[in-house]
Amino acid sequence: MKARNDSAAPAVRLAQYTRPTWRVAHVELDFSLGIDETEVIARLDLSRDGDPGAPLELDGEDLELLEVLIDGDPVAPTRYTAGERGLVMHEVPDQFVLTTRVRIKPSTNTALEGLYLSGSREAGFLLTQCEAQGFRHITYFPDRPDVLARYTVTLRADARRFPILLAGGNPDGSGELADGRHWARFVDPHPKPSYLFALVAGHLERISHDYVTANGRAVELHIWAEADVIDRCHYAMDALVRSMRWDEKAYGRNYDLDVFHVVATHDFNMGAMENKGLNIFNAKYLLADPDSSTDDEYLHVEAVVAHEYFHNWSGNRVTCRDWFQLSLKEGLTVYREQSFSADMNSAALKRIEDVALLRRAQFPEDAGPLSHPVRPAEYREINNFYTATVYEKGSELVRMIAGSLGRTGFRRGMDAYFERHDGEAATIEDFLAALGDANGVDLTPYLAWYAQAGTPRLRGRGSFDPGQRRYTLHLSQETPPTPGHGAKQALPIPVKLALFASDGRMLPLRMQGESRQAAADERVIVLSHAERDFVFEDIGEDVVPSLLRGFSAPVMLEYDYAPTELALLLRYDVDGFNRWEAGQQLAALAFDACLSGEDAHGAADAWTASIASIFADPSMDDALLAELLTPPGEIELADRQPRHDPAAVHAARQQLLSRLAMRVGAGTLAARYATLFARASADLDAAAQARRRLQRRVLDLLAAMEPARAATLAARQYETAPGMTDRLAALATLARTDEAAAASRLAHYRARYDDNPLALDKWFMLQASLPGDGALARIQRLEADPAFNLKNPNRVQSLMGAFARTNPTGFHRADGAAYGWFADRLLQIDALNPQVSARLGTAFNGWARLVEPQRELARAAVNRMQAHEGLSRDLADILDRVVGG
Ligand code: TRP
Ligand code: ZN
Repeated sequence: MKARNDSAAPAVRLAQYTRPTWRVAHVELDFSLGIDETEVIARLDLSRDGDPGAPLELDGEDLELLEVLIDGDPVAPTRYTAGERGLVMHEVPDQFVLTTRVRIKPSTNTALEGLYLSGSREAGFLLTQCEAQGFRHITYFPDRPDVLARYTVTLRADARRFPILLAGGNPDGSGELADGRHWARFVDPHPKPSYLFALVAGHLERISHDYVTANGRAVELHIWAEADVIDRCHYAMDALVRSMRWDEKAYGRNYDLDVFHVVATHDFNMGAMENKGLNIFNAKYLLADPDSSTDDEYLHVEAVVAHEYFHNWSGNRVTCRDWFQLSLKEGLTVYREQSFSADMNSAALKRIEDVALLRRAQFPEDAGPLSHPVRPAEYREINNFYTATVYEKGSELVRMIAGSLGRTGFRRGMDAYFERHDGEAATIEDFLAALGDANGVDLTPYLAWYAQAGTPRLRGRGSFDPGQRRYTLHLSQETPPTPGHGAKQALPIPVKLALFASDGRMLPLRMQGESRQAAADERVIVLSHAERDFVFEDIGEDVVPSLLRGFSAPVMLEYDYAPTELALLLRYDVDGFNRWEAGQQLAALAFDACLSGEDAHGAADAWTASIASIFADPSMDDALLAELLTPPGEIELADRQPRHDPAAVHAARQQLLSRLAMRVGAGTLAARYATLFARASADLDAAAQARRRLQRRVLDLLAAMEPARAATLAARQYETAPGMTDRLAALATLARTDEAAAASRLAHYRARYDDNPLALDKWFMLQASLPGDGALARIQRLEADPAFNLKNPNRVQSLMGAFARTNPTGFHRADGAAYGWFADRLLQIDALNPQVSARLGTAFNGWARLVEPQRELARAAVNRMQAHEGLSRDLADILDRVVGG
């Protein structure tokens, strides 16, 4: 059982960091594995590091302690205390070998932290998840990332029930034991923190690949999965090989063991885990085949495989001193992963998607009560800080720094960082110092970005002086207050920009005081203070500024563009990201017009006319066109309003879509759809993916105007779809346009994929996202489906998570019924798996901005959960912060 809410457990503070008192040079682990009971013997080579006389304190939770020995001699139980949180021993030598023997219970571990069972008792397998603090559920140990030890791990188990035995490190022997048991040993030569320990045992199949690193090491790559899905691992293997080559080229980083294992499980709390030499993946991010995966899922598999592999250097070889530094590994690794994906696919599209994700997930987080800095100053439960802020905003900070150093400067800095801190546990200061020192620059001003929560507002105002032939750009910044942090300081904000003349030309940029030599038409200016004027010379006409190109800083830009100015950028900007961005801004203005019912500036007209003309342009790229046809989502649009009224936002956005559809014309849409449909294929190349993306958007637009016509096309598309992307898109459109026609296809899909959990997750998710007051009743029917299971995180996310996160009108229905139902389920889940309940609990982050009566009803639901006895610390922490408790 997971330790229950312990209100006495004090917050952990960054400022109170102290070095570990005990070092562990080497640890030998010996597992006797069983599903109901596993015994773990740990031999720790301990030595005191300062503080003579301090007791030995080891973390340990839910362990049944069987034996303690010092240097091989049994220790009487009177000499130690084994409590709820660990083991304390007084009067111990400065250097000794501590041996403990404990018993743990994998089959009752529903929290999926520590050693647990994936799948059924009969056929499932055992595995571990130790980040952040799961190792203490396996054995007594200083379970903190700045204690690095070398691991020798021996696994013993019944050979029939557990034919495959894996742990991180190089294989170091295996053999038979008496009674049908066998053993295998693994030695990891690289010192690592306990959160990177992993083992896997059970029936698994594998695919393998021989890889030779750039520096000449032969490595066996193995991907392991249960027999029924092993054929769906080939794409992940390709992605792994691409990732390894890329890290060699882009960062000069080679893999450093003789084997690399990757394992897929259907029971996992997060996406995947970078355990040294033994990455473990949520099957959702490893398996891919055209019949059951969408194009987006292929991209996710490629990105997550790369992410976990890249951790081998950014996270494992150089790890974090403490959990406050989490973004040191996560922000940096997301940045590396995004750069990789941009190189493998379309860079402009990738940037659009990454920024859209930041706005959908991180901006709302940063605007609500759960707001926290990329490097938080304190936490009650570290598992609640694996957030969009630490990951996605953290990546944006690395991107800004990389941009300021330039390509070769950043590489030089990263080489210095890896070299300086290899085998160490580092801090964000260390990172900035290494990058700065290697380039002779001071990066400490960027520390403020790590320390300060909230999304900065960047305000711009331009003025043209025809007499002086001068354009002055006035920039100012302000970060709104966030919980517990009122006054904000100015941050260095790099603004990449260009100036457009009315004919669409970019003008040469010569700033005041600069010589007349060939001026570039794009440059980066940095706003380091609260406000400043930037003066551009030789400007002969008024201009339209293209600001924050490529999204050069994670801020909200407030610039009072006229619709015609945005239309100009939408037409002429050559920065793919900013072109899309101009369309988004214009769509947002058009949305405002739909919401208020008055369009004084003609924004709706400007947006629909611009998009319609781009639609007619035959040279337009399919994928970018699909993005341009998509206005911001309901969550982003709601963020523009002072009060969140989900039903009004939904209605206004629908109106916006139908106005666009009318402008383009039903005939034009249907004709385009027919052309795209005729080219249907299951191919995975970029052109085929772009085709599917556009086809989906075109059909959705048609549905906004002529639902019956769209339903007919969707039904046909469902029947004939060559792969999952087209099949699922058809089902989603059908479910929104013709309920009766959808019902039979949904039933068909349900039966077809009865034995495919990942495909079934999409079936739950699709229905959980259908808008309107009927959503709750639908969800309640779905949770009665025999395939629904509160213990499986993916299934819970696909129903509860999708409902709360992607279905604003359904979740926020005005009578509060959905909140009540959701709170009941959350409490049930919390008793099983606190990490999952806490994550779902963040759905209430935006409650204070809701209109009434939703606002009060949401708060009441949170309060009711808070009053529940035995709440986990994870969920209690989220709920308390959400309502400011
Ligand atoms: N470090 C993992 C990553 O690659 C995140 C992770 C996986 C995790 N499993 C976890 C974090 C369990 C907390 C708890 O991003
Ligand atoms: Zn990570």
